[in-house]
Amino acid sequence: MEKRAVTMDKLVALCKARGIIFPGSEIYGGMGNTWDYGPVGVEIKNNLKRAWWKRFVQESDNSYGVDAAILMNSRVWDASGHTTSFSDPKMDCKECKSRHRADTLIEGHSKGKVNPDTMTNEEMEAYIEEHKVACPICGKHNWTNIRTFNLMFETSRGVTDESQNKIYLRPETAQGEFVNFLNVQRTTRAKVPFGIAQIGKAFRNEITPGNFIFRTIEFEQMEHQWFCKQGTDEEFYKEFKEKAWQFLLDLGFKKEHLRFKDHDKLAHYAKEACDIQYDFPMGWSELNGIHNRTDYDLSRHQEFSGKTLTYIDPMNGERYIPYVIEYSIGADRLMLATLSEAYDEETLEGGDVRNVLRFHPAIAAYKAAVLPLQKNLSEKAKEVLQKLKKRFPVIYDEAGSIGKRYRRQDEIGTPFCLTIDFDTLEDGTVTLRDRDSMEQIRLTPEEAIKFIEEKIAF
Ligand code: GAP
Repeated sequence: MEKRAVTMDKLVALCKARGIIFPGSEIYGGMGNTWDYGPVGVEIKNNLKRAWWKRFVQESDNSYGVDAAILMNSRVWDASGHTTSFSDPKMDCKECKSRHRADTLIEGHSKGKVNPDTMTNEEMEAYIEEHKVACPICGKHNWTNIRTFNLMFETSRGVTDESQNKIYLRPETAQGEFVNFLNVQRTTRAKVPFGIAQIGKAFRNEITPGNFIFRTIEFEQMEHQWFCKQGTDEEFYKEFKEKAWQFLLDLGFKKEHLRFKDHDKLAHYAKEACDIQYDFPMGWSELNGIHNRTDYDLSRHQEFSGKTLTYIDPMNGERYIPYVIEYSIGADRLMLATLSEAYDEETLEGGDVRNVLRFHPAIAAYKAAVLPLQKNLSEKAKEVLQKLKKRFPVIYDEAGSIGKRYRRQDEIGTPFCLTIDFDTLEDGTVTLRDRDSMEQIRLTPEEAIKFIEEKIAF
């Protein structure tokens, strides 16, 4: 069995120390389960979003992007079913007043052997009673009945207190893609099958957020809806499973850290659904979902809006409401998986241990660090820095021994360090050190730019 060095505590500590992710509102004592991305983290997350967009929009033959409003007409959420059925089964501990999800309690108690997805609320209550499932906080067994709890955050809109209308912070980005189906189809003249993609914030009043950025109340989703004709949907479902899997392998994920998991209980809109799970530091959990949503979404929006959402096939005039294959992945969850996958501790000759984030170079915050060997070489180093900065993000560091500076870059995953020494003044060449192998070669700055640009392509 492979022994991985990564733990959640180590990741949280590294992220805070190196400007990747900070606790939200920290100087006010924090705000539970919110996190702020720092200077290094924002670059990594942007690179993940860029890689996803490139793969699923830019490189797709027929996919288009949108950036829809977070606040939508509340009828959207009636049509999607969120106002009535977007809820989790919660139970309160009568002893310590903590709140829990009944399904999570069962999963925890049975160590994953019992699958609560297939149980009704009554069956879950009976299991918890029969097995005397204890509260994970106080250890007592004294529960309320299950109550459902809608996960949408509510707010209101109106110019006077009397005219306030209830609206919601969107709990998923998908509906912004569905309501724009015809706008996109008409303006791009796209023919079915085609896709609509979006990256944006979503909000859920989760009962049990936690595990760092794995489950939070505010997060970003990257969602892609593929509109296709009924009858072709099953083939496209398979295709998107493969595409989603390949995307992760290309980012550098090991196959043995990923697996498919079919849903046992399908959502009200789904014909088939699965997740790709990742072996996170806390165990196997959902990284992304792929769903065959049938024609549910467009049919419901047609019904609730009163607007026809049928597609007319230009070849034969046939009218139909397309089926949808959805591929959805959380940007923050992908960030956590990427950090977990990249984290390594390497014991060096002599016994020292170095921490390294072995990202794909396309994902690293900075593609190179420019390091003058001594301070009196800084003028030359800054000349090199300016040349590189025009091409990709670079960081400059002249503080401390060269060994310590290499370690700092290893810890944030910078793939290449360029050292400026006295030979640079003589022949213009610099030393390029590779993060993973620690091997060094000498190149001119122009050769280094070409070399790095080839490595950071995704
Ligand atoms: N439109 C379908 C949809 O929203 P989902 O399985 O609820 O499906 C899709 O969410 C993805 O969004 C998940 O696979 C996960 O990566 C991410 N996600 C969902 N809830 C999240 C949360 N509370 N915090 C962080 N990421 C979340």
